[in-house]
Amino acid sequence: MDRSLKVISSLIFIHCSEEDIYLQFVLQKLSRKLLIKMEYIHMKGGDEDTSYARNSTFQRNLMSKSSSKLEEAVRKVVLLCLNQKTLISSSIGVADLGCASGPNAFILLSDIIHAINKICSSDEIELLPELRLSLNDLPGNDFNSIFASLPDFYSTIKPDNGGIGGCFVSCVAGTFYGRLFPRRSLHLVHSSTSLHWLSQVPPELQNSGEHLNKGNTYISKSSAECVREAYLRQFQKDFFSFLRCRADEMVPGGQMVLSFIGRVSPDPAAPEAAQAWEILAQALITMASRGKLEEEKIDAFNAPYYAASAAEVEAVILQEGSFAADCLQEYEVRWDQGFHDDGDQSRVLMTKGQRFGRMARAVAEPMIEWSFGFGEDDMDELFQVYDNLVDDHFAGAGAAAPYFINLHLSLTRKDN
Ligand SMILES: C[S@@+](CC[C@H](N)C(=O)[O-])C[C@H]1O[C@@H](n2cnc3c(N)ncnc32)[C@H](O)[C@@H]1O
Repeated sequence: MDRSLKVISSLIFIHCSEEDIYLQFVLQKLSRKLLIKMEYIHMKGGDEDTSYARNSTFQRNLMSKSSSKLEEAVRKVVLLCLNQKTLISSSIGVADLGCASGPNAFILLSDIIHAINKICSSDEIELLPELRLSLNDLPGNDFNSIFASLPDFYSTIKPDNGGIGGCFVSCVAGTFYGRLFPRRSLHLVHSSTSLHWLSQVPPELQNSGEHLNKGNTYISKSSAECVREAYLRQFQKDFFSFLRCRADEMVPGGQMVLSFIGRVSPDPAAPEAAQAWEILAQALITMASRGKLEEEKIDAFNAPYYAASAAEVEAVILQEGSFAADCLQEYEVRWDQGFHDDGDQSRVLMTKGQRFGRMARAVAEPMIEWSFGFGEDDMDELFQVYDNLVDDHFAGAGAAAPYFINLHLSLTRKDN
């Protein structure tokens, strides 16, 4: 079935012009069908205790580290529109890719609106521009909770609250590794803590008929060279597609602000890139030893994830050629960062392992449920094991707490 859909969709690509709206619609439907197998990548929806909405302070902190770069990008966009005399005559197109659900998506939109207001008032621009704000994620995302929060969001940005000229929010379901928006419709693209997710598990690891990465859930010290290479190839292919699609969708001079998990070490199995997955593998192996799943399922599982190095990211940007990199920075983010300031009193007695485990569960639960068929009780047990392992890890690490590397990139769409 998958194969025939692929053939039909590539035929449509060959035989239709991009302007043919009906065929584009059919094509979108087909590519969604092809994507169904990756629908397990989404954060845990709703607003219960284990949801992403209630466990995303970590990602919120990462996002806030890019706020000065975001403000800089907004300034460039406002100046671009002023120079082209389009600031008031047409709207500014903004997209947040991989928005998930919960407060973070709206915090970002508010930050952008605030930055535009600030720049317009400091430059004495009286008529404020109109904004098209698009929130994107995969179809399995909890868009319903975003829709439900929209009225509150709109009420906070009314003109009498010092808000923008007009602001129109839409949600776009689909993969950011494909086209999502019309040509040259976006001025500013943002994505935070999302681009380390690949479009798929590298096909070499799924289709070879044997388990090439036995006992691991991601690249680890024991992974063969062919596993490391397969992951790198998948990242290169995906990031190239991401840039090529955005190049089509953005206006020349448009700005892109991206941040995602990466690494500083040349070794893809370095702790900053692989430790959290190794702990998940250990927790799954413990569950297998308790008879809760077959080990074979762990051998068959590989995370669709890649923590790239700055050099790997830069090489793809150069190869693709549509963007100039204004800034590429790496910084360390401790696993326990922000625990003390998330304002949730009910969690002050929790261990670091439990708090990190909450965040990891909100991110990984849909994927684990789909891959291992765990129900609520098994999931609770798995994450109790996981939390204890993370606590052991903190205890062993002493003052040098485990950390991720966050890569930050500011890019300008070139005039080509
Ligand atoms: C950790 S969340 C980050 C959410 C939000 N940006 C934040 O900072 O809180 C990563 C999001 O990326 C989304 N994602 C992963 N792969 C994607 C893809 N190919 N296309 C669109 N969204 C994707 C996931 O569904 C998830 O909601």
